[in-house]
Amino acid sequence: MNIPKVSAQDTTLTVNNVAGGKTTFPVPSGMGIDINVPGLHYNPRYWKEPHKFMPERFLGDWPKDAFIPFSQGARACLGRRFFETEGIAIMTMLVSRYKIEVKEEPEFAGETFEERYARITTFDQGLTTIPVRVPLVFKRR
Ligand code: HEM
Repeated sequence: MNIPKVSAQDTTLTVNNVAGGKTTFPVPSGMGIDINVPGLHYNPRYWKEPHKFMPERFLGDWPKDAFIPFSQGARACLGRRFFETEGIAIMTMLVSRYKIEVKEEPEFAGETFEERYARITTFDQGLTTIPVRVPLVFKRR
């Protein structure tokens, strides 16, 4: 998901370039800027094996400025702390009470782990990110 912004004043933006140096762009007042969140979250400059599911990457020291699902700055998400508490409580309750598995379907028999991962994580981009089809089976523990 991109986060759209509009520049409130004439300014400049300095970014790293592929040659290893810096490039500075003029940003006039009123110009639209999209912050490419997935581009940052999958950037190997900041994340080791960015496509690998590795929740332990968030233990210890990790690049806080390269993780912005709730945006950054004065207009960042007001609900972040609420979600981080409530969302984790809900996930913990679900996972402790149910074993959650991807439904086995004959038409997908024989697919590789990567194919399955790509199939169930396909999403549509609306105002929020929308899962396309996530066939999960919840089994009571
Ligand atoms: C996974 C959960 C959530 C994510 C990933 C998320 C993400 C975001 C993002 C990216 C923004 C835009 C910030 C910007 O434009 O720079 C935002 C704004 C906002 N979010 Fe969330 N949010 C989440 C949950 C919540 C919840 C649970 C609440 C309220 C209880 C909430 C309230 C708000 C509000 C009020 C703003 C506007 C802040 C402002 O414009 O000053 N969010 N959120």
